[in-house]
Amino acid sequence: MTKTHLISGVTSGIGQAITKRLQAKGERVVPIVRSAAHAEAIGADAHILCDFGEPQRVRDAVRDFSEQLDSFINCAATTIGKAIFTSTLEETQHLLNVNLISPMMICAELKKNMKDGGAILLFSSQSAYRGGFDDAYNVSKGGINTFIKCMALKFAPAVRVFGIAPGITLETRMTRERKADDLAPIKEQIPLKRFGNINEMAELVECLLGPAGSYITGAVIDINGGNYLR
Ligand SMILES: NC(=O)c1ccc[n+]([C@@H]2O[C@H](COP(=O)([O-])OP(=O)(O)OC[C@H]3O[C@@H](n4cnc5c(N)ncnc54)[C@H](OP(=O)(O)O)[C@@H]3O)[C@@H](O)[C@H]2O)c1
Repeated sequence: MTKTHLISGVTSGIGQAITKRLQAKGERVVPIVRSAAHAEAIGADAHILCDFGEPQRVRDAVRDFSEQLDSFINCAATTIGKAIFTSTLEETQHLLNVNLISPMMICAELKKNMKDGGAILLFSSQSAYRGGFDDAYNVSKGGINTFIKCMALKFAPAVRVFGIAPGITLETRMTRERKADDLAPIKEQIPLKRFGNINEMAELVECLLGPAGSYITGAVIDINGGNYLR
């Protein structure tokens, strides 16, 4: 039977690469999008329409969604690009709504949707461990890591819940917004001397969803070229 994956963040970067990879295998992607045109663009036959900046609407939309799922893959996220000293309360709350509260609200409604043997995969970041410039973003990813543990316990044994914590990944909106001059010295510090790419992320996702990931739950897997070792 064709597998069905609910995926956020399909319009760009890692989420787009995962979508292409799963669709190329003949699997079905139901995207969570902010515009119906984004679902049409990937040829989806169903979608959930909501903005992660509005967690109650996100929760209501997922509550109304009745399809059975092999996986939920959360890629949607945003950055402020500022430290807490200069961020407004509104910017901070919006970021936490998008990166943390809305993914939590989705998982809160997914018990009825997940098939036995299914998986929930939430994207984290190396910045959850090492900190960084954008404080709200780093905190949101630390929260995701803790939430993964909580959900792993609550969804077990039927559904596995895990995360991926990438280092800097090229071909994404997040890295396109950064200046080449800022990135060059960071690359030199990475033991593997390069940044990651979206296809490496998508390949790891495919692997974790398959038999190789069948005994993994509650864990967050690092994929960062050795940039952060813990
Ligand atoms: N890129 C990196 O270097 C890096 C490093 C570590 C971790 N990560 C994590 O990996 C995941 C994927 O990152 P990426 O860099 O591939 O993403 P990206 O290219 O920046 O794309 C962000 C995605 O999130 C969606 N999104 C943003 N705000 C939203 C909102 N309010 N409601 C619904 N969707 C929204 C965007 O959809 P729209 O088209 O509607 O805006 C877009 O599809 C994220 O969780 C990110 O934190 C990335």
